[in-house]
Amino acid sequence: MRVLTGIQPTNILHIGNYFGALKPAIELQREDDLFMMIVDLHAITVPQKPEQLQKNIAFATAAYLAAGIDPKKATLFQQSRVPAHAELGWLLQTVARMGELERMTQFKDKSTAKGQNVSVGLFTYPVLMAADILLYDTQAVPVGEDQKQHLELTRDLAERFNRDFGQTFVVPKPIINIASGRILALDNPDIKMSKSAPSPKNYISLMDDADTIRKKIKSAVTDSESGISIDDARPGLKNLLAIFHLVTDEPMSEIATRYENKGMKNLKEDLAEALVAHLEPLQKKINDYLKNPDELEKVVSDGSLKAAEIASAKVARVKEVMGLRLA
Ligand code: AMP
Ligand code: TRP
Repeated sequence: MRVLTGIQPTNILHIGNYFGALKPAIELQREDDLFMMIVDLHAITVPQKPEQLQKNIAFATAAYLAAGIDPKKATLFQQSRVPAHAELGWLLQTVARMGELERMTQFKDKSTAKGQNVSVGLFTYPVLMAADILLYDTQAVPVGEDQKQHLELTRDLAERFNRDFGQTFVVPKPIINIASGRILALDNPDIKMSKSAPSPKNYISLMDDADTIRKKIKSAVTDSESGISIDDARPGLKNLLAIFHLVTDEPMSEIATRYENKGMKNLKEDLAEALVAHLEPLQKKINDYLKNPDELEKVVSDGSLKAAEIASAKVARVKEVMGLRLA
């Protein structure tokens, strides 16, 4: 099966990105043909400082390798190095409708406060994402819950294109993990954990040190009810139990039973230690990769060449069926 996913190189990845998208993708690498993409063209739909963006791209590469992407098995590449993404993105903009993009909740969320003062790219962002996916005959896309609507748009565009121009694109399916598809903000369990949150208390970054992790978990917002239970009416607590499950693999129900009488304070302390133990080896590997920029460059450049070969053949086919070639 062809599997593809992408993460934006903005700020440092948090545990929501890691458990929601990166880890599920890596688990598929063993049996499936995985394409893992650094989506820098998506990142620039909101202003980025060039030097910082460059660092974030290197960090993302190091993080993917440290988390277990094996460049011998998977194709790890950078979106902007493969010209076919921007090209198919344009071609699909002529297929997408204003109305369907106006319905995208991510655009609404990111633009509401800013009014007209957002880039046009932020609006057409989901069309570029559709191009990313459709270029590679992708069958499955591991993502967090927040990307479900973009996947539905991708499916609609593929079906519409196939109907109008003949069978060209594979219609992809999302893979959304129930336990990790929506990790909530630690400081507000009504919203998801997010890299661009104004307060760092919102998230645990993959690079947070032990003391920061302890402090953030200690101050995580829960509720005033006593005892530990798995309950949708207690979203802050449920989120902590989910994270505990993700770092230890122990079922949530067993964790909840174990802490039933021990209480929130103990649960938080032990969760913080489990997270520290989980992230420390990953952090060490990331730092080791970052010391070796030549190796990072080689991995990304080889991966991007391989991706470009597949993607340019697809764009050629799209142009042909759209009538953009001389007879
Ligand atoms: P982004 O950082 O927006 O590029 O997101 C990269 C991937 O992480 C996407 O598949 C998102 O759906 C996923 N993701 C982002 N935030 C969360 C979250 N809070 N919980 C689970 N997955 C997430
Ligand atoms: N829009 C995705 C996000 O913010 C990132 C992304 C871009 C992506 N292109 C993709 C994810 C293709 C999966 C497949 O999370």
